[in-house]
Amino acid sequence: MPVTLPQIAVIVGSNRRESINRKLARALIKLGAGKFDAQLVRIDDLPMFNQDLEGNLPAEVVRYKGELARADGVLIVTPEHDRSIPAVLKNAIDWGARPYGKNSWADKPAFVTGTSPGAIGSALAQQHLRSVMTGLGMILIGGEAYITFKSNLIDDQGNVGDDGTRTFLQGFVDRFAALVAALTPQAERAAA
Ligand SMILES: Cc1cc2nc3c(=O)[nH]c(=O)nc-3n(C[C@H](O)[C@H](O)[C@H](O)COP(=O)(O)O)c2cc1C
Repeated sequence: MPVTLPQIAVIVGSNRRESINRKLARALIKLGAGKFDAQLVRIDDLPMFNQDLEGNLPAEVVRYKGELARADGVLIVTPEHDRSIPAVLKNAIDWGARPYGKNSWADKPAFVTGTSPGAIGSALAQQHLRSVMTGLGMILIGGEAYITFKSNLIDDQGNVGDDGTRTFLQGFVDRFAALVAALTPQAERAAA
């Protein structure tokens, strides 16, 4: 049987064109090369959550929930908005959680991180997010990856520019990859 790498859905909690969190997400995907395959999942086209739409899910929501269903694990990289989860990400979380009985998050391993220029590097958004995702049944890797954005965080090649930060983040990526691999053995991988 050919080896299938775990499939990771990557969600960025920003709809900004030049998002620093999207840049960080792409750099993290590079750190996971050879350990998992990762795809960015679009969330900025999802309609505002409305329970009235649950009976006949919009096409964007069907596509989005399909991408989550096929993923063996989820990487969430988010900024902090007003000391909490950005609205675009919270909307995506709510669609993932619904309709009742169709929770896309349950039992999925996840790594939550994010960056902001502020000194606490999106810590409060991440803490709120961890609380929400744990409530929805996700299995989060432990530790705290609050990244203060500096101009050299991501270099011109899209890699983590600073050696210390790269080593720090590689440790999280490796632990995340190991958890996903342990929870989704080769034969059971969603993409297989
Ligand atoms: C509505 C709004 C609220 C913000 N609130 C915070 C905040 O609470 N803490 C923080 O560190 N930065 C905050 N910022 C600054 C963001 O960290 C900054 O815009 C960052 O670039 C966002 O990440 P992105 O480039 O991935 O969108 C806020 C920005 C906006 C637009």
